[in-house]
Amino acid sequence: MKIAVVGTGYVGLTTALLFAELGHDVLAIDIDEEKVKKINEGFCPIYEPGADELLKKHAGKNLKATKDYDIEDRDLIFICVGTPSREDGGMETKYLEEAARQIGRRLKRGSVVVVKSTVLPGTTEKLVVPIIEEESGLKRGEFGVAMNPEFLREGLAIYDTFHPDRIVIGELDKRSGDALEELYRPLKAPILRTSIKVAEMIKYASNAFLAMKISFANEIAILCEKLGIDVYEVMKGVGMDHRISPYFLNAGAGFGGSCFPKDVKALIYLAKKLGYEPKLLTGTLEINEYMPRHVVELAERELGSLKGMKIAILGLAFKPETDDIRETRALPIVKELLKRGARVIGYDPKAMENFKKLVPEIEYAKTAEEAISNADVVIIQADWEEFKNIDFDSFENLKLVVDGRRTARPKKVRYVAVGRGD
Ligand code: UGA
Repeated sequence: MKIAVVGTGYVGLTTALLFAELGHDVLAIDIDEEKVKKINEGFCPIYEPGADELLKKHAGKNLKATKDYDIEDRDLIFICVGTPSREDGGMETKYLEEAARQIGRRLKRGSVVVVKSTVLPGTTEKLVVPIIEEESGLKRGEFGVAMNPEFLREGLAIYDTFHPDRIVIGELDKRSGDALEELYRPLKAPILRTSIKVAEMIKYASNAFLAMKISFANEIAILCEKLGIDVYEVMKGVGMDHRISPYFLNAGAGFGGSCFPKDVKALIYLAKKLGYEPKLLTGTLEINEYMPRHVVELAERELGSLKGMKIAILGLAFKPETDDIRETRALPIVKELLKRGARVIGYDPKAMENFKKLVPEIEYAKTAEEAISNADVVIIQADWEEFKNIDFDSFENLKLVVDGRRTARPKKVRYVAVGRGD
């Protein structure tokens, strides 16, 4: 099939790579000239394990990038642009609207437009389709419409895209649903066909549920600390119930990233607009906002005032295996530390340059060892693999390790972790 993918962020690029690997002819469209150039030269514009190899294999062959919406000959056009949070928590639709306008201008009769961006229920039918109709002069039915949410995790984007738990296809017309089912069949994943609005809501409900699981584990963690027991042992037992599952029950510094905070906020915004004051969703965010402060309070509980103390923060990305710092819990932790007059030294294997732009006022170390050897306290914010092998006991200067991701195992040096009540 001839496919176009609009937007080459995590979702767009991995979607383009998936279809290229499945043997289709893929055109990746992005407004960013630099990204387009990189993709065509076979260099991946994002850090994502496995993406480089796939891009080298397909760039310039059956995967081409362009700034132009050359979509006249495309059977399927996937919209994968960002829908970031607005100030009021609502969903920013300007990129989506622009993509719909551009697609509408050059859409041929019979092509199928698929919204893959995370969009609030109703957006595809009430916003995207009318723009395309207006620009193209075609009516729905003369072009196909589907909504196909993406469930990949950053850092595991390629794996998740090739091994999805399920494929959700929301369809306005059967022909579009059939085309997508055919496209995804080689992945051998369960396929759920439904309406557009349901597909849109499945994405939000899934992310909100996972975020809620994390906040739930964090709330229980605080209780466990007070009870002198370990939340990880508790959740091990809890997660053995197949109705609950052991995943996303890891207590710590809270959830970050470009999706959970944004999507929970957008759902709260929508609920309020619909006249309902959401309780669980609001609680999920409130707990998450508290956890970075809790991490700092654990250090204070052990050492008293942190004023003038040298504190190394390991892991600046929102999680390991990514250079993405969007909504990273490292930011509120650093802010809390600076507020208390601490001296902060940051280190991350991949996200240091990004974080430096956001927080130029702290010190940065070239290696984890350099950061630790200059610090009184270490706070672990992201559980990068390389941190697991650090021998914290070998640093004489070190007074305390505060573990926000349950990754260190020092024997001698004082150690506290979220949800570990001893
Ligand atoms: C998340 C979802 O997991 C994906 O299914 C979804 O497609 C994606 O959002 C999206 O909507 O695009 P992602 O944000 O890449 O993926 O990262 P996760 O691995 O889900 O982690 C999110 C945050 O939760 C991280 O800060 C992580 O450290 C934290 N987390 C995760 C916990 O604190 N505890 C856990 O048990 C699991």
